[in-house]
Amino acid sequence: MTQPPTLSETRQRLERTGQSHLLAFWGTLDEARRASLLESIAGLPLEHLPAMLAQAATLAKPAAADIRPVRPYLRTHPEAARYRAIGEDLVRRGKVAAFLVAGGQGTRLGWRGPKGTYPATPVAGKPLFRVFAEQITAAERRWNVRIPWFVMTSEANHHDTERFFDDNRWFGRPRADTMLFAQGMVPSVSLDGKVLLEHAWQPALNPDGHGGALKALRAAGALEHMQASGIEHLCYFQVDNPNVHVIDPLFLGLHVAAPDSSAEMSSKSVLKRDVTEKVGVFVKAPRLTVLEYSDAPREVAEARDPDGQITYGEGSIAIHAIGVDFIRRLTDHPLGSVLPWHRAIKKVPFVDPATGAAVEPGEANAVKLECFVFDALLEAQGPIVLRTDRVEEFAPIKNASGEDSPATSKAIQVERAVRWLREAGIAVPAHANGQPDCTVEISPLTASGPDDLRRSPPPKPIPRGGEALI
Ligand code: UTP
Repeated sequence: MTQPPTLSETRQRLERTGQSHLLAFWGTLDEARRASLLESIAGLPLEHLPAMLAQAATLAKPAAADIRPVRPYLRTHPEAARYRAIGEDLVRRGKVAAFLVAGGQGTRLGWRGPKGTYPATPVAGKPLFRVFAEQITAAERRWNVRIPWFVMTSEANHHDTERFFDDNRWFGRPRADTMLFAQGMVPSVSLDGKVLLEHAWQPALNPDGHGGALKALRAAGALEHMQASGIEHLCYFQVDNPNVHVIDPLFLGLHVAAPDSSAEMSSKSVLKRDVTEKVGVFVKAPRLTVLEYSDAPREVAEARDPDGQITYGEGSIAIHAIGVDFIRRLTDHPLGSVLPWHRAIKKVPFVDPATGAAVEPGEANAVKLECFVFDALLEAQGPIVLRTDRVEEFAPIKNASGEDSPATSKAIQVERAVRWLREAGIAVPAHANGQPDCTVEISPLTASGPDDLRRSPPPKPIPRGGEALI
């Protein structure tokens, strides 16, 4: 192991990069904190910081005139059965792994632990991590294969996540088939480019965004692991969506075999509910990209086709299929990956280096830098989009209440379960208007769609006004 830089080497580096205030409290620190501070500073990308900040501040947004709509594949594609068979073959041959990003701070939900530990399902209150684990187990049984699961955490939640998996005995899966690793952190800086101090002995850091996932896979040795075990494609998903179909053969089949795909990166969309929905949309500008709702010019956000359809209506639900070779190519870069830096101006508490006072800012005082995984689409050859059904695959939990909250997510989960039951010919108690008069949850171990329900023994009758776990 290399020795951390000495105090005098660190001083010189800080002077060179204009960050000398990071040692403002050196004289007051004990030995352990001094060592920790030197190590933290050694890990900061100080030489690159001005360029990262400048890039984030000047990131070009596509002009309205350059934006074109995307033509997605549909699940009703005439050759869907053939693509599904190709995807199934890929899974059966052990070429596919699941990849969950769970390193976010989850501030909007305000849950006390990692978001994946949140009890999300409507009847059993299963935590999100269990929902995904059971889906992976069901897929392993169906295709008689081991499906490795890569889970990205952050420094802030890694320990708690690992303990949760441990306490739950890795959800009954072999320990070796789940790999947890923490994503990178970047310094939070003041509006004039100075790295903030969270404590006298600790620079303020934030996770480097879900785009950090690609370099974190590489840094954790996951890419070598995949190469050694023959994994060629990752099913990427986020921690906040219990309705995700983690392993989707049709999507994988299109990703590897659609005529216009090069199997580097593919994405799923759902139609925007209305023009005001706050969701990023897939557009061509001229390459495929996600246009965030805050960046969409009004004439783009509100445009409609002659038949009334929203022109730029392919909303991103953060589900992607990503080729492992593509990740290797993108991460062959001195800064870890080629993805651009974005910035958010936020309130970040800090210790004032001049006075030693802990400051709780009343206004946004800091730049947080992060990368977005969908920016990788810009680098991909022939990325494709598959439009999918909202209820079937998207029940996000972002906020504590209101839109995209646990309550709305549970309602969508129930709606999907009722839909599957009805399609399978199973009676669901309903009100006169057809709305279900019950709360139902279908375990991923029982079914991943109506076909599985048709094949399973019929469930016990669902009580009117009651709950059922199937
Ligand atoms: P969000 O954009 O919802 O961010 O993340 P968040 O940090 O979880 O939540 P808020 O904004 O503080 O409320 C979308 C997905 O990307 C992951 C999250 O865990 C979630 O699965 N993510 C986000 C990371 O893994 N790392 C990050 O640095 C940011």
